[in-house]
Amino acid sequence: MTKKPWQGRFKEETSRILEEFSQSVSFDRELYPQDIRGSIAHARMLGKQGIITEEDSKLIIEGLEGILEELDGGSMPWKSVLEDVHMNIETLLTERIGEAGGRLHTARSRNDQVALDLKLYIRDTCDAILERIERMLHCLLERAQEQTDTVMPGYTHLQRAQPVLLSHHLMAYFEMMRRDHGRFLSLKNSLNDSPLGAGALAGTPHPIDRAMTARELGFSGITRNSMDTVSDRDFAAQFLFDAALCQIHLSRLAEEIVLWASAEFSFVTLPDGFATGSSMMPQKKNPDSAELVRGKTGRAIGNLTSLLVVLKGLPLTYNRDLQEDKEPVFDSVRTLTGSLEVMTGLIGDIQFEAGKMKAAADGGFTTATDLADYIVEKGVPFRKAHEITGKFVALCLAKGCGLTDLGIDEMREECDAIGEDVFNILKVGSSVGRRDIPGGTAGNQVQIAMEEARDWLAKINSD
Ligand code: ARG
Repeated sequence: MTKKPWQGRFKEETSRILEEFSQSVSFDRELYPQDIRGSIAHARMLGKQGIITEEDSKLIIEGLEGILEELDGGSMPWKSVLEDVHMNIETLLTERIGEAGGRLHTARSRNDQVALDLKLYIRDTCDAILERIERMLHCLLERAQEQTDTVMPGYTHLQRAQPVLLSHHLMAYFEMMRRDHGRFLSLKNSLNDSPLGAGALAGTPHPIDRAMTARELGFSGITRNSMDTVSDRDFAAQFLFDAALCQIHLSRLAEEIVLWASAEFSFVTLPDGFATGSSMMPQKKNPDSAELVRGKTGRAIGNLTSLLVVLKGLPLTYNRDLQEDKEPVFDSVRTLTGSLEVMTGLIGDIQFEAGKMKAAADGGFTTATDLADYIVEKGVPFRKAHEITGKFVALCLAKGCGLTDLGIDEMREECDAIGEDVFNILKVGSSVGRRDIPGGTAGNQVQIAMEEARDWLAKINSD
């Protein structure tokens, strides 16, 4: 039986049932790089402040560096009896360097240690996610730049509404993900106060230098209240929200791909690399990649909910419930990074079927609004123009034709202001071109939007 470091006051062993139930090393081992980085900073500060000898400080730091190297190499005898990543590393250190290892935890508690580790982990992870979002943004922009002539129906209520450029549609996702980028960046930049030094909850009587460890760990300052520090997981909740929302954006794009890949739409052909077959139906080519991204959004939302519920009833300060903060975070990281990679691959290789999109835009009366606007320009009030156009649509439905198939006389019967120039108005291409205001779908506006996006991407890459 391994004796636990905190068992001084205990007479009996921990029940195996509780041991298994309460251990976290099976998952919090993921925090080892941050845990060791934090411990090295702490040990250096303890030495400098004379709280432990410089010799012990050096021994500890070298010992930890050795353990880090081994862990990076993939070998570590993690022991669940030692509960968590913190105790495992400290115990291993003491086995290696002897008594000095037992001095590392001076002026520190696992409560400020774990708050530090998770904050560092989230800061590191924001970088990895930002990089993947940037790759996705580049991919969306590239595909949009290829599609400046492709007209498709824009939808409201999933009913054909007005013609738009495919590039405009793709750039809508660019904007969503640009906001995600902003959220992760601002979260990362807000993680600038170090929790280390809060101790178990009340601070420590040892003359530590919190600013020194903060600096070494890349924080610009320190947290202001020790009790808040050990119980605060706002940053984890914020991370989970940002991850859930980004995942929701991917899920919406995934849903469109699923629809577009159906025979009913046929707007895209899936790349073989990101599609799967059916084990039973030989003709099938399924959009499983997009479906899984959509499906995994349930996890990302669940992870956020899970942490919020853990937090809602907690009295100050640290409570063991807080150990439940980590798995949702790790799971959202895996889910989101995987989904970003899959969607980038899928969008990068997907084939857009411009002919099918154009045909769909030509049908479904997508230029009916243009016709109403045309009648307005002839001096008719919009409400009246709307009604006249509605009548034309009803007439077409009865005849089984489109607006362009109506004769000029038929139209003039309802509204004599209509002239021959109406036929140009009814073309999808001219409809798109007339939406020539900033943010609109006209080709030159989308061009401006794409140029701005390209400059912005170049700027964030160079920052
Ligand atoms: N494994 C614990 C967690 O993740 C570390 C902190 C334990 N602190 C304590 N007082 N038991 O929250």
